[in-house]
Amino acid sequence: MTLGEIKDLQGKYLMKTYGRLPLTMRSGSGSWLWDMEGKKYLDYTTGIAVNNLGHCHPKITNAIISQATRLVHTSNLFNIENQSSLSEILVSNSFADRVFFCNSGTEAVEGSIKLARKWGEQNGGRYAIISTEGAFHGRTFGALSATGPEKYREGFSPLLEGFYFVPYADPDAIAHLASKTNPCAVILEPVQGENGVIIPPPGYLIRVKEICEKNNMLLILDEIQTGMGRTGKLFAYEHEKVEPDIVALAKALGGGVPCGAVLAKEGIARHFTQGTHGSTFGGNPLATRAACATVETIIEENLVQKADRLGEYFLFRLKEVQKKYPKQIKDARGKGLMLGVEFSDRNFARDCFSSSVSNGLLVILTVERVFRILPPLNTSEEEINFAVTVIKKSIEEVISSG
Ligand SMILES: Cc1ncc(COP(=O)(O)O)c(C=O)c1O
Repeated sequence: MTLGEIKDLQGKYLMKTYGRLPLTMRSGSGSWLWDMEGKKYLDYTTGIAVNNLGHCHPKITNAIISQATRLVHTSNLFNIENQSSLSEILVSNSFADRVFFCNSGTEAVEGSIKLARKWGEQNGGRYAIISTEGAFHGRTFGALSATGPEKYREGFSPLLEGFYFVPYADPDAIAHLASKTNPCAVILEPVQGENGVIIPPPGYLIRVKEICEKNNMLLILDEIQTGMGRTGKLFAYEHEKVEPDIVALAKALGGGVPCGAVLAKEGIARHFTQGTHGSTFGGNPLATRAACATVETIIEENLVQKADRLGEYFLFRLKEVQKKYPKQIKDARGKGLMLGVEFSDRNFARDCFSSSVSNGLLVILTVERVFRILPPLNTSEEEINFAVTVIKKSIEEVISSG
């Protein structure tokens, strides 16, 4: 199909839920994508924090091919070898004792909320959950009820009962609300992604965990975006050496094949008894084979440490750009390879974003004025230098166009 034909069919038959870039990608390799015209782009969107090993990493590709020629799907009516292997890898590299597999981020959040409610029911008959303003947890009803911004919630009332919001990075607000609402859990992102890469001050998670323990509440961390090495640790909670009770994972876990997971400590996980939760596709042989290859590669190739080192370098370079353009750039921030460049003006940000795309760099424009930059963990200093050059060039172009 030509680009025109693709867009015609899309306009005619697809629901209009997405505002897409006027680009269609034909192939990818490592950090790079090629569009239908053969133009090359440095892909620092990584499919929204999914392709943490870049595009078509041979270990993931080979794992998918070999599994697809043997067995793709059986359902959880049967034991699944790759699910067992993946759960062992996840448990031995995390706080968790048990895993439940699903297919997406929003399902991992649904599973986490259901597990917390099951636990809450048997621990004082509690069901309320405290979430944070600006949070993004997904689009299904439970996850949407925990999602803060009105733009996602509008038109879908009534949402689930019992969700309360406090400002992000404000542990005292959680303590205050806990004493009033008798909640069973707190849910939050260790770094808010969709909300513009908001990094809480050090000690935030430790303080929230203390409040949870004091009030007998569970701490649910949504590591869907921050997990799998993104922030320079395999899981972002490791930065503070805090043990959560439940963690939701998805995105990068399956290396591009949809795979989500709920991780939990034994005392919580035991509340999911036979028949209380389930999924037809969850943890199917193909998804869990791809996920095993992804997590093994992240660990074997020391990509977590690499993300930490490269993230420091990238942030240093972005801060240099901020220094050069203090009027245009309000802030440059990051944790590992989860970085944000916040522009002072949303029109400037939008024009600069368009220029960056034309100049061959793909990032995500979040909350209208923040470049959310999510490189693959195995990117290089040369690629980061290219990204910095494009950002500078794009800023110059927008300034000179008046
Ligand atoms: C922190 C966080 N939680 C949940 C989700 C929802 O994931 P999915 O789109 O796979 O349902 C996202 C997606 O962007 C996310 O960033």
